[in-house]
This record gives sequence, C-alpha cells and structure tokens, in this order.
Amino acid sequence: MIYNYDVKNILVSIIEAIDNFNFLLKNHHKHTATIAYQLGSSYGLDKDKLNNLVLAASIHDIGALYIDERDQLLYIDEHNPKPHEIMGAKMLEGFEPLKDIKEIIRHHHIKYDDILQNKVDKKDIRLECYFLHLADRIDILLETYGKDSYSRDLIIDEINLRFKTVFLPDLKYVFNELAQDDEFWENIYDLAFHELLMLNIDSNNFKINDSDIDGLSKIFARIVDFKSPWTKVHSITVGAFSNAIGKYLNLDEKTCFELKIAGYLHDIGKIAVPSELLDKADKLSDEEFKIIKSHAKYSSMILKSIDGLGNISKWAINHHEKRDKTGYPLKISDEKFSIEMDILAFSDILSALLENRPYRKTLPKNTILQILKNLTPNKLNFKVYKVIETNYDSLYNLYYKTIKENEEDYIKA
Ligand SMILES: [Fe+2]
Ligand SMILES: [Fe+2]
Ligand SMILES: [Fe+2]
Repeated sequence: MIYNYDVKNILVSIIEAIDNFNFLLKNHHKHTATIAYQLGSSYGLDKDKLNNLVLAASIHDIGALYIDERDQLLYIDEHNPKPHEIMGAKMLEGFEPLKDIKEIIRHHHIKYDDILQNKVDKKDIRLECYFLHLADRIDILLETYGKDSYSRDLIIDEINLRFKTVFLPDLKYVFNELAQDDEFWENIYDLAFHELLMLNIDSNNFKINDSDIDGLSKIFARIVDFKSPWTKVHSITVGAFSNAIGKYLNLDEKTCFELKIAGYLHDIGKIAVPSELLDKADKLSDEEFKIIKSHAKYSSMILKSIDGLGNISKWAINHHEKRDKTGYPLKISDEKFSIEMDILAFSDILSALLENRPYRKTLPKNTILQILKNLTPNKLNFKVYKVIETNYDSLYNLYYKTIKENEEDYIKA
C-alpha cells in the first residue's frame, strides 16, 4: 500500500507545532536547534551528524511532560534529567527513520565528568549528544539571564566554567569563537525554524509510505497520551476503534487506514493544555473545563497547518462536533457531517468510557451502549452506533489488545 504522504513535511510541521503550542517549552526547541546547528557546522560535523543533531535538538525535550520537570531543567546544573531523557527516547520507539535521534535524546544531558568517572559507557554516547547538551544550556542561560550584552558576557563565563566537567573540552574553542560573533546570538532568534529543518532532514531517510506515516503519527499520539496516566493509550485506541469500525462498515482500505491515523492525531491539541488539568481528580471549574475544551481548537490549528493530510485532518479536527450543532469548536451542522466524522466521534467517546478516570472506574457494557445510543439519531449517526453495538465484544477485546501491545509504553521512566 502506498498512499503518497509527504512524511518529511508532516514531521516538520508537527515539530514546529509542538514548539509553538507546547505550553511548557515554548521556542526552546527552536532556539536549541539553531544554536546546535551553528555549533555543529562551525565545528565541521559531517552532514549526517549535523542532520541528526538539528533534528534531535528540535524535539529533545518531548519527554518532559510536567511542570516540575520543566522547572528542574531551568537550572544550569540540572539534577536528575534522566526521566525525561528516557521518556523522550521511549516515545520515538518503533519508527525506523528516527532511530539515531532516539539514541541522542537518551543522553542529551551527558556530562563530561560522567565519562571520566566511568559512570556511563563512552561508546553509548554519540558525539551529537555533547553538542546538544551545550546548545540546550546556552538557551537555558539566555532564558535566565536575558539577551543583552551584559548578560551575554555572564553566559559566556558560566559556560566556560564548565568545560572539562560538564561540557566536552573539544567544544571550547568553537563555542568561544562563535560567542564573539553577534550574528551567532542574533541567529538564535532570527533563523527560520522551518527552513532549518527542511534543510537538515535528509529526505532519503523518510520513505514515503504508509508504515512511516503510521509510525510517525503514533509518536505524536504518545506525546499527547503520556501527558496523563489516565489516557496513556487513548489516541492509540481511538485510532484502532476508528479503523475497526470503518472496516465493519465496509469502507475502503484507504479510508480505514486514514481513520486510524486521524484517531492517532485527533487530540494533538492537548499539547497546549497543562497536564495538571488533564490529571485533575476533582471536579473542574468552568474556567478549567474551557481550557480543556480548547484542545479541539488547537488540534484544528495544528492539523490545518500540515499540508497533505487531507481527510485525516478534517476528521480528526471535528471529533467533538455533533450533527445537531451542539458540538465544538465549529458547531458543524448535519449537512456538513460525514460518516467518518461520526466514526471518530464515537471512537473517542467509547475509548473515554472504557478508560479508568481519576473520578470514576471504567463503565459496564450496558451503560456504555446506552450512553452511545442516546447520542443517536440527533447527535451522531445511528448506523455507526448499530455496528458498535453488534461488534461490541470484539471492540472491547481490541481495546485490551491495544493496551497490551502498548504496555511497555506504560512503564514510566
Ligand atoms: Fe532536556
Ligand atoms: Fe532542553
Ligand atoms: Fe480524545
């Protein structure tokens, strides 16, 4: 099966969206990538390593999901960066084109001292890791001290204090040479992230085929799902349900495939919502509920910015819409609805009802079917409900099979 998705373009768009919308790390990935790129190219890294470095820098903190983790990383001498390194590496599992990036992210806070003291095995550490760590700390210092020339001198001093202990001594020369150049500092804010990524991602590594788009979307599903322990496989199961329901309705193979991807991506806007709200056990205030609901708007903004997703983004964006115009964000009406939108909406609700939530346990079959049936025919399509009812037991088994298959993702670092 080849459906001709431009995997490189999708990857770049989602990386940009994560950096833009992620409320924890706004612009940190972009700044780190532009610093890393400049360090790497001045040093003379070969093309493959430079490509890896830029790509790793542009997603290196995807494993930092909570505010306390973020705050911890804002100290120049961070104490325990391991959890978000391991988590970040875990998220990239199963997607061949990013296998090198995964290994760089796993050790992106490597300290030179740890090598000297044999705390880590030198051969596990790729050269790109040292560049990434230095670039990352430069951006953290810019955040802390500011961008003016007085701060710049302080930053240069702070960094120079740490060669031989924290940073690889080989990078001292290239850092100090660049640091004298105004352009280096200006580029951190001025270089276009999109162009930088397009230039430094080797298209050859991203074959255009359906297994790649599947693996890639799964990564972004994990980034969203892992934000809360209650939804660890939510997007993955919504994808599995949508795919299965499409098949029960005899939709063609391509549509069923796209329904799966739409399920993986439907909640991507949750990257803009604080984890603490997604986790909250108590009743949400009106204001908090509004923030949670805003994820649909953000999903829409993100997915619309990606060229070439076509139907996938249309179905994913509208997963909270209802045929009687009571949904959100657009209050789409019946005439503009498609059966694929019903499938996404039902799959989302079914998955949520099967999940344990902080305020309730999973619900029994009869209750679930009653809740879904009550949505028809006014809010959602009865025909779709009917195939869910008929195949409920298979869908239920699919839910637990999907959890089991993704079980290792559960183990929080
Ligand atoms: Fe980090
Ligand atoms: Fe970072
Ligand atoms: Fe959802």
